[in-house]
Amino acid sequence: MSNFDLGPDVISRVRDATDAVEVISEHVRLRRRGRTWEGLCPFHEEKTPSFSVDPEKGLYYCFGCHAGGDVFKFLMERENLSFPEAVEQLARRFGVPLPAAGPEARRRRTENERQQSLLEEAQHWFVEQLMEADGAPARRELERRGFPASSWRDVGFGWAPDDWRQLLEHLRRRHPEGVLVKAGLAIQPDAGKPPYDRFRNRLMFPIRARDGRLVAFGGRILGDGEPKYLNSPEGDLFHKRSTLFNLDRARREVASKGKVIVVEGYFDCLTLQRVGVGNVVATLGTALTSEHARILRRLLGTDGRVLLCYDADSAGRRAAGVGVGVLLQAGVDVAIIDLQGGKDPDDIVRDKGVDAFMEMAAHPVGILDFLLEDLPPNPADRRRAGLAFSALVCAASDPAIRQNLIEELARRLNLRPREIEAQGREPRRRDAPTASATIQPRPTTAPGERDLARILLLGTPSAGERAVKEIRPELVDDPRVRELLQMAAAGSLGEKLLSWVMTESENEATQTFVAALCLAGLPPVTEDTTRTTLETLGRRQRRDQARALQEAIENASQEGDMERLAQLQMEKIEFRKQGA
Ligand code: CTP
Ligand code: MN
Repeated sequence: MSNFDLGPDVISRVRDATDAVEVISEHVRLRRRGRTWEGLCPFHEEKTPSFSVDPEKGLYYCFGCHAGGDVFKFLMERENLSFPEAVEQLARRFGVPLPAAGPEARRRRTENERQQSLLEEAQHWFVEQLMEADGAPARRELERRGFPASSWRDVGFGWAPDDWRQLLEHLRRRHPEGVLVKAGLAIQPDAGKPPYDRFRNRLMFPIRARDGRLVAFGGRILGDGEPKYLNSPEGDLFHKRSTLFNLDRARREVASKGKVIVVEGYFDCLTLQRVGVGNVVATLGTALTSEHARILRRLLGTDGRVLLCYDADSAGRRAAGVGVGVLLQAGVDVAIIDLQGGKDPDDIVRDKGVDAFMEMAAHPVGILDFLLEDLPPNPADRRRAGLAFSALVCAASDPAIRQNLIEELARRLNLRPREIEAQGREPRRRDAPTASATIQPRPTTAPGERDLARILLLGTPSAGERAVKEIRPELVDDPRVRELLQMAAAGSLGEKLLSWVMTESENEATQTFVAALCLAGLPPVTEDTTRTTLETLGRRQRRDQARALQEAIENASQEGDMERLAQLQMEKIEFRKQGA
């Protein structure tokens, strides 16, 4: 949520003021090459540069991995910012003043800021309590778990005393109790009864959003007791589904390594981080969600990989199975770290040392090895049980990953790939509506339609208007070009269309396509290009229309639908007149 009112005009002002080459140069070493700049793509591994930047339009595109978009999208992907964050950052940097947001957005904002500073105060207090006399058992526990006092500050460990109202009493001087309850620090029993502290007798650690903001707490009970772990409740600041523990510290290393280890437990994460494994995150007592997967995919880039490292027990195996499905569907490559009898990563590091863990992490198990591990030995039973994974494998939204998995599963079950596909396709589809949107589009449009897109984006206004008049969007084959033509018909041409695509179209495929077109180094759009393109396309559309009309006429006459037949004949006459 932004503090500012980021309307289309403001966004294009920021875009105009931004020096895309300067911004992108901080991530990629760029060299000028004619009108554009080139470098090694930051979104995939490569040795020869196929990444280019158009300084005038502020667009980038990689001819290798087909990543592309505008400078806002670049920052969103590389620095993991939201769209408003990217706009605000560039506005600040290039000196564009932003208009303040309306009263409702401002009120929510102040409310969140207030909750946030309340959490910071609580964190400060928990840290202080850890050093108090009665924090001794908590300090001993941390040391027993391998965290010397020198490491506490880095994590932000604290201690919630075994009492019902200490934190409340401490904060009540400055904050109403209602706010404490709302921030999840206190629990309100039935109305009329006084609230009490949520966290008691617990080792506390802060849970931060990926930008480092404190959004919640986790607490591990000291000794035995239920529940073992307790988190802040969901609220305005804290959303479990989209929060990954430790991502604030891990993100840089995740992005640079293109690998992330996902573990189940807080202490698995904290211990690995302590011994120098930086690219590790944990889910927060939930299964991995599609939001988690999307966040990781962005950070990992195209060739990245998730290594799931869940407990070796049956709950852990089940959670890993869910995680595999969610990640594949989001288009992320995934493998499993087999703990080889160890209980969890924390135990392994403490019992056998970090090298033992690194050795396991260096040889992850493929997901089919993992999924097919417990199958019955009898071939027929095995095949039946194995086929149950067809849907999961076919739901992988990355075409290369899907193809490999289908072939491998077929080989192992002694079936043909087609049988896996047939089995896998049926019940799915409807619950996987987003899967296809994540596939990276390849620019394979027919030249005529590609030129049409160039006319709309790069041609003169009169060329664009002529295209709008002569070409019918519903007859355009390529959905990306169709979207452009529809927007153009609604009045956006040239720069305006470009800006609409990059900021308002939700369609990533169109964004990438447009970036590719602008950076493709094709000859400029001349009057000649416009004329021949529109003539060819127009002819083709008329042919298609004539064919469709003819088919409809034949159908109607076969069915004896005289009324419809008459109507179609009229249309045909009309159509002939126009074509002449
Ligand atoms: N968890 C939770 N609530 C619980 C129990 C577990 O949210 N009541 C989550 C926590 O994120 C925890 C993870 O599940 O870290 C794994 O739980 P478990 O395997 O039981 O604990 P460990 O991480 O091994 O905890 P410890 O090492 O402290 O015993
Ligand atoms: Mn553990």
